Amino acid sequence: MSNTQQLYDKVKSILYSLTGITLTENKEVMIANRLDKLKRNTKYTGDIGELLQRIEDGEFTKEFINTFTTNKTHFFREDFHFEDLKTRVLPEFEKLNKEIKMYCSAASTGEEPYSMAMTVREFSSTMKASIVATDIDTDVLQTAANGIYRFQKSSKEFPDWIKPQKYFKRRIQKNLAGDEILIKVNDDLKNMITFGQMNLNDTVYPFETHQFDVVFCRNVLIYFSIEDQNKILQKLFRTLKIGGTLYIGHSENPHDLINYTKRVGQNIFVKVKDIG
Ligand SMILES: C[S@@+](CC[C@H](N)C(=O)[O-])C[C@H]1O[C@@H](n2cnc3c(N)ncnc32)[C@H](O)[C@@H]1O
Repeated sequence: MSNTQQLYDKVKSILYSLTGITLTENKEVMIANRLDKLKRNTKYTGDIGELLQRIEDGEFTKEFINTFTTNKTHFFREDFHFEDLKTRVLPEFEKLNKEIKMYCSAASTGEEPYSMAMTVREFSSTMKASIVATDIDTDVLQTAANGIYRFQKSSKEFPDWIKPQKYFKRRIQKNLAGDEILIKVNDDLKNMITFGQMNLNDTVYPFETHQFDVVFCRNVLIYFSIEDQNKILQKLFRTLKIGGTLYIGHSENPHDLINYTKRVGQNIFVKVKDIG
């Protein structure tokens, strides 16, 4: 086996043990690019094999995790989920005059939980709502908590029923390209959300059984083996109330949960009973 292959195998095994992420075959180019980034992020000038050994021994683990996670996201990604939240879920809570408690389990740089919060506010200016938003990557969580985003004026990121100017303040900054603006999320949205770090691969989650009315777990399961996806889904499912809604990403599968849920839309599942 070549030295390079050994390095790649080591990366895969460290990544799995720290995050549960399983890198599939043909990820060599990606691994090589991320190793370069890891050296820059750690400012490590020595041998890469030594750096990986130090990570295995417990140093630079934050930098390793933050380098190897893939954080692609945008506001109102798969917007039909937010549409469903607005038209099917929120009216029930308004009728009951109840706070809605939501969980965003792979929040990345924050666009997803802020989209959840905007959906609530677009539906009602007074409805009580709280969102717990977690991710394993501390860099993206910092960006999320800052709530400042660079935007192209021509961006079509927001659906027609959202008025972004209600939720963002424009910020002045030099060095923006001609068609770019910088926007900052308003305090009303921020106050709805609690950000925190959490590893979905942890055995126990820091939440109560039936804590949430809505769980978003989108575009993160794809990074895990089927076996680990099932484990994650079951742990998340425990936190969801009976009658609560689980949203998963477009290419993701509810696996065993299919027997405990009713499908009400594209990758939208309502919990009908607890497991076992
Ligand atoms: C591709 S992004 C998806 C973001 C958002 N949910 C969306 O659909 O746009 C995947 C996110 O999952 C996070 N992630 C990966 N492994 C994780 C783990 N073990 N625990 C928690 N978050 C994880 C990454 O840090 C990344 O921010």
